[in-house]
Amino acid sequence: MPLFVFEGIDGCGKSTQMSMLLERLANADRPYKTWREPGGTALGERIRDIILDPSTQAAPTAELFAYLLARAQLVQECLKPALANNEIVVLDRFYQSTIAYQGYGLDMSIGDLEAAITIALDGVKADKVFWLNVDPAEAQRRRQAEREADRIEARGLAYLEKVHEGYVGQSYQEEFITLDGTKDKQEINDEIWQHVISCLPS
Ligand code: TMP
Repeated sequence: MPLFVFEGIDGCGKSTQMSMLLERLANADRPYKTWREPGGTALGERIRDIILDPSTQAAPTAELFAYLLARAQLVQECLKPALANNEIVVLDRFYQSTIAYQGYGLDMSIGDLEAAITIALDGVKADKVFWLNVDPAEAQRRRQAEREADRIEARGLAYLEKVHEGYVGQSYQEEFITLDGTKDKQEINDEIWQHVISCLPS
């Protein structure tokens, strides 16, 4: 069964779209497994608390390995067993975030990142990546209206613009589905649903 990923900059609306898809899968009697990144496992959730805490000091390389550590555990503990069991998997972020936030955002070598990500993934791949494309200034306004910034969000608009470029740079990959995040929520959800349905056995 396929592995679906929701991606985008903070404030893009991915959590809303992901909840809408999960509700639709449940209503269609299509069981699924879902996790968030970083997190999803006991180890990953502890890493999440530390790495998103504004009081944490983390060098870019340390930050990279924190995300990879959480991912490696999620792959072994959750993703591989679920995929081996032929289950639909829906993820709130995956390795595309690392390319965008650490690679483009922190100017780290994309080639080096890809090599490290390959180790963490241990062969697991995304089948469809739903990228909610929203202008960074608009996404920041939305996020600020909702909650305080975490350590990553506190980096501000210039950083978010680089991360956005990271998604633009990846959007040409075959598995990427670019969605206009300013459209009506239901319209976006319908578009996502068509892609999801096309990947599932009837
Ligand atoms: P979120 O789950 O609420 O979107 O928060 C996760 C934050 O961590 C978000 O700002 C994106 C960031 N992040 C990275 O910088 N690199 C990664 O590899 C992942 C998965 C997330």
